[in-house]
Amino acid sequence: MRHLLSTADLSRAEAVRVLDVAEQMAATQQREIKKLPTLRGRTVVNLFFEDSTRTRISFETAAKRLSADVITFSAKGSSVSKGESLKDTALTLQAMGADAVVIRHGSSGAPLRLARSGWTSGAVLNAGDGTHEHPTQALLDAFTLRRHLVGGGPGGGPAADRVGADLAGKHVVVVGDVLHSRVARSNVHLLHVLGARTTLVAPPTLLPIGVETWPCEVSYDLDAALRGDVQGPVDAVMALRVQLERMDAAYFPSAREYSRRYGIDAARLALLPPHASLLHPGPMNRGLEITAEAADGARSRIVEQVTNGVAVRMAALYLLLAGEDA
Ligand code: NCD
Repeated sequence: MRHLLSTADLSRAEAVRVLDVAEQMAATQQREIKKLPTLRGRTVVNLFFEDSTRTRISFETAAKRLSADVITFSAKGSSVSKGESLKDTALTLQAMGADAVVIRHGSSGAPLRLARSGWTSGAVLNAGDGTHEHPTQALLDAFTLRRHLVGGGPGGGPAADRVGADLAGKHVVVVGDVLHSRVARSNVHLLHVLGARTTLVAPPTLLPIGVETWPCEVSYDLDAALRGDVQGPVDAVMALRVQLERMDAAYFPSAREYSRRYGIDAARLALLPPHASLLHPGPMNRGLEITAEAADGARSRIVEQVTNGVAVRMAALYLLLAGEDA
């Protein structure tokens, strides 16, 4: 792996390797002193052209825990045209010697452009590009699912029970604004590579053109999917944020109507087998795609996802910068 741009680029072995290294990283995060010397002297630049709380802080924490020097650049508010400012910014970073560039950008394909451009010689990590991909989010979701669904049971038994394992035979329902979600696309690819089944559930207006070519099933009926009528019993449900900021038209009649048909609440969670988990990448619209009761309930892994994100991003930075031989 030279860059991490898309989960569609990952082989099963590469994806499992990231999850396994993340298990080791997570173990180091239980220690009193959390910092490792691994990336001492390396520079990681966080380039955020779009708003972010979790992902930006998570990458920053991950790089710092590996002892890298971290520069965080928030380009929000820049009036320079995006293509030009991306190039100029990248050239500046290259002049400063960035070993890795973590980029979030509103335009789908910006990280690929950066990786192919020669503007930077560093590794490029996609931290979310437009409505396209968000590979580290999918990896942290898979890490969280593996901990709960493989080996030792809820919360995870000994890491040795799941190291080397994929998610073969598991079934994940992803519900919500698939049209605008880079998280959904990254998850569908990664879950497929890891041997899991995915059912996407959304109103027809919130599904992208071409979704029938994705390696998953599609349903408009959330209750049927949760009951297991679409692809069998469900091991986890992932709610997606309704991305109001990317909506330029009316995609559903009203918030109340959306919640009624596609919102996750306690009654819907009760349709799932007892072991099934609830995920959400955050930020949540509480009361719209998820109720507070569901988000804060016993099945929720939402806070754990954030914790796991640091270990997964440490693993990604480690594998890209220190390589397999380190
Ligand atoms: C997601 C994103 O930005 O793509 N959030 C995240 O990174 N945790 C999902 C979203 O914004 O809804």
